[in-house]
Amino acid sequence: TKPVTLFELGKMRAEGRKIAVLTCYDASFAALEERAGVDAILVGDSLGNVLQGQKSTLPVTVEHMVYHTESVVRGCNRPFVIADMPFGSYHESPAQAMRNAARLMAAGAQMVKLEGGAFMAETVRFLVERGVPVCAHIGLTPQSVHQLGGYRVQGRGEEGAARLKADALALEQAGAALMVMEMVPAAVATEITAALASMATIGIGAGAGCDGQVLVLHDLLGVYPGKTARFVKNFMDGAASIEDAVTRYVAAVKDGSFPAPEHCY
Ligand code: KIV
Ligand code: NA
Repeated sequence: TKPVTLFELGKMRAEGRKIAVLTCYDASFAALEERAGVDAILVGDSLGNVLQGQKSTLPVTVEHMVYHTESVVRGCNRPFVIADMPFGSYHESPAQAMRNAARLMAAGAQMVKLEGGAFMAETVRFLVERGVPVCAHIGLTPQSVHQLGGYRVQGRGEEGAARLKADALALEQAGAALMVMEMVPAAVATEITAALASMATIGIGAGAGCDGQVLVLHDLLGVYPGKTARFVKNFMDGAASIEDAVTRYVAAVKDGSFPAPEHCY
């Protein structure tokens, strides 16, 4: 099977085929996710929470991201691999972002993801012009949890929705090819998705109107301790194996049955 490219992801968006994204942090799960049909793997800084037991993603470093990206890339061939830029690794300047993105790309990532709205557009453009594909991330941006005052739904109300839409358009203009929307009212995410010309939206707690979906692997498997968010579904319920659960997730994203209304805001 051919490796998924940015071109192929753009084609999926244009043809209305849903993009199934899932986080992954190691080679064994990367191979399993490939067998299950995952289109793109996100080496998320959620590894701070689910692997390291941190209370937030803030302590994650570029070194951690390089290590896990290298591990994932060794385990799979078909999925498009996106690596998160951790907190503090791209906020100072476009030059700092490029320096750290280059380390993730050298580790085998095919795209980097960074959090932030219009204020990140200059950095996005700097990276894209230099050959680094960028996935943006708006709505609930976990690296800003202390500024946002907790893990809360974003883009509520007319003003909140307008700000998110302006952020999305600025990021698309800057050249971001994908954009994660996290914890955004489904109606707002659907409207933003429709307003974009080329950038594919990947939702997590943003409704079924996005071009694709992403979940944290450990949430999908029901192994992350504690209370889970409304947008999480445990796909191990009724599954015969872990691979079956991931396969069911991919199928549910593809046929639009996940997320269901009960997973949305
Ligand atoms: O780090 C992560 O897993 C993420 C997804 C939840 C989008 O950023
Ligand atoms: Na992340």
